[in-house]
Amino acid sequence: MIEAEEQQPCKTDFYSELPKVELHAHLNGSISSHTMKKLIAQKPDLKIHDQMTVIDKGKKRTLEECFQMFQTIHQLTSSPEDILMWKKKKEEAYNLDCYEFTKVTKDVIKEFADDGVKYLELRSTPRRENATGMTKKTYVESILEGIKQSKQENLDIDVRYLIAVDRRGGPLVAKETVKLAEEFFLSTEGTVLGLDLSGDPTVGQAKDFLEPLLEAKKAGLKLALHLSEIPNQKKETQILLDLLPDRIGHGTFLNSGEGGSLDLVDFVRQHRIPLELCLTSNVKSQTVPSYDQHHFGFWYSIAHPSVICTDDKGVFATHLSQEYQLAAETFNLTQSQVWDLSYESINYIFASDSTRSELRKKWNHLKPRVLHI
Ligand code: IMP
Ligand code: ZN
Repeated sequence: MIEAEEQQPCKTDFYSELPKVELHAHLNGSISSHTMKKLIAQKPDLKIHDQMTVIDKGKKRTLEECFQMFQTIHQLTSSPEDILMWKKKKEEAYNLDCYEFTKVTKDVIKEFADDGVKYLELRSTPRRENATGMTKKTYVESILEGIKQSKQENLDIDVRYLIAVDRRGGPLVAKETVKLAEEFFLSTEGTVLGLDLSGDPTVGQAKDFLEPLLEAKKAGLKLALHLSEIPNQKKETQILLDLLPDRIGHGTFLNSGEGGSLDLVDFVRQHRIPLELCLTSNVKSQTVPSYDQHHFGFWYSIAHPSVICTDDKGVFATHLSQEYQLAAETFNLTQSQVWDLSYESINYIFASDSTRSELRKKWNHLKPRVLHI
């Protein structure tokens, strides 16, 4: 099972049995310690040890240190084989049957499924690695293959993919990524659904990404944008909000005195743009000082659409049940309120109305058992 569980003294059945939707999970940040150990063992020359890829319970890092951790993790997932965790049998030709596997993508999906996640939107930044021959296209294909294989194993989880733009790459790379996303949006029949803007928020400017993001929107891709993750970015935030994103990642400082404002809050409220909120991630990366000061409290109190998410369950040593439990215990939510929070998150998925109806059916079927009613 998931490593973070070992660090959490007790987790009641309610939170793991609660059917959940995960809408903000970066693939490389979601790799569990268990999978990470396997990757580290395969690449001893890199001299990476466990503690360089995870922030344990009670520990914190700066946002800058978190982004350094992602670079360390990327060294471990630098070939399509790593993304899939496939090893080619030397004596056989290169085809899928030749691979033995436990894939990173599949591991991550399985862990979410084990945690009661019924619908998952994974996001990941296509990477080219000249040393291993991995192209951005094979990167995306490897993830899609992982999703496909999980489906064939009949895991009780519906998985989609949002292609991510890393701010560090700048506008040209963003344009390239949008083109790739459009191709896969057209060819995957609903698996690739949207585009994420993420990466170090101190790097680059929102205006540089307007053109590619608009292009993506025009093509029908949904937009999930990280914004207002750090203080004093009012102008930057408004530029991104003017695109009317379909969902907001974090939005930590929208409602704060440091670079937030009533205008921003009003805008988000008027347009009812859902927020993806990740408590442990924000506390461990120190953009939020403590759980009780998390902006979930504000948005929940005004009944604004909010979805509890993990962000990077591997790096932040958490899982979605734990995030629900933390939100409930910190903000005194009843089980029935937690249920509603999870049920309402179905409204904000990027998949079609028919998927939404199927999920609602599933939730309604499970309700008596989970709530004991
Ligand atoms: P990947 O896209 O699958 O490689 O997942 C790791 C990447 O997600 C990082 O390199 C960042 O670009 C992005 N990321 C993960 N967590 C955060 C966050 O909290 N804020 C912004 N970007 C993030
Ligand atoms: Zn994120």
